[in-house]
Amino acid sequence: MSIAYFNGDYLPLDQVRISPLDRGFLFGDSVYEVIPSYAGEFFMLPAHLERLDRSLAAIRILSPFDAGQWTALLEDLLARNADPATPDLGVYLQVTRGVAPRDHAFPPDARPTVLAMVSPIRPLPEAVRTEGVAAVTAEDRRWGHCDIKATTLLANVLNRQAAVEQGAVEAILLRDGQLTEGAASNVLVVLDGRLVTPPLAPSVLPGVTRSRVLDLARELGYPVEECAVSESELARAEEIWLTSSTREILPVTRLNDRVVGAGHPGPVWQALHAAYQAAKPGAPVSEPMQSGGAA
Ligand code: PDD
Repeated sequence: MSIAYFNGDYLPLDQVRISPLDRGFLFGDSVYEVIPSYAGEFFMLPAHLERLDRSLAAIRILSPFDAGQWTALLEDLLARNADPATPDLGVYLQVTRGVAPRDHAFPPDARPTVLAMVSPIRPLPEAVRTEGVAAVTAEDRRWGHCDIKATTLLANVLNRQAAVEQGAVEAILLRDGQLTEGAASNVLVVLDGRLVTPPLAPSVLPGVTRSRVLDLARELGYPVEECAVSESELARAEEIWLTSSTREILPVTRLNDRVVGAGHPGPVWQALHAAYQAAKPGAPVSEPMQSGGAA
């Protein structure tokens, strides 16, 4: 049984008890982060903690910890879950407004509930690297503040389930004929040789992976554009990718039963996947070039 952090204690996950009056449970009145770690080291932790602060501020929960305290708490959690069988762990961190008699308005004196727990991150299966995955499109019927990483995810859950029932791994969401993001991922496309993704807006979560992948693409010299992507552009994209902290960069090779590009993960994905793997903690250091060596 993995070890969780709950309101000041570290304990086996199955011993955590959440009150039925917790506002996260009753109202989805809470925010969360999913933070990847590789070989016992966090990847892009400061960016996740900054987004957590923005989400908390947006729903007016006073953060119970500062960045240094969050870091110490999360590193302690990782250390307590160290296991060579699962070297890569995603930490799920949730902060709710706390426990109070049920009333929609904020309670005057509730203390935030803090839960953090881990689950393994598995390397991309060989079949996904060679064949890619399927996705379907769906109407984006979520609320107007998808930039807040809130746990109020019913629309995302229903969209993901509809995708799974169609044999796909993700629902790619469209609002007024324009791409927003996936049910639990950002969406990037290669269109006419450029890497394109919708700009940050209230309809899009500012994904930490999205931002890192855009930076890596710029470093590699690919033209990058943050601009609107229409449904017809999505349908003719050469490559489509899903990015998230747990799934990294997933190449979509079937969209609504139509083949994307050449039907297998494309060359731009290959380059960015390799760059992303090399950026992760614990990645093998690439061999320096031998002077005079031609290989
Ligand atoms: N979700 N958009 C949505 C709606 C998401 O739920 C996620 C991630 C992302 C990607 O964000 P990031 O790259 O920072 O993980 C975009 C997490 C992984 C989840 O809900 O499990």
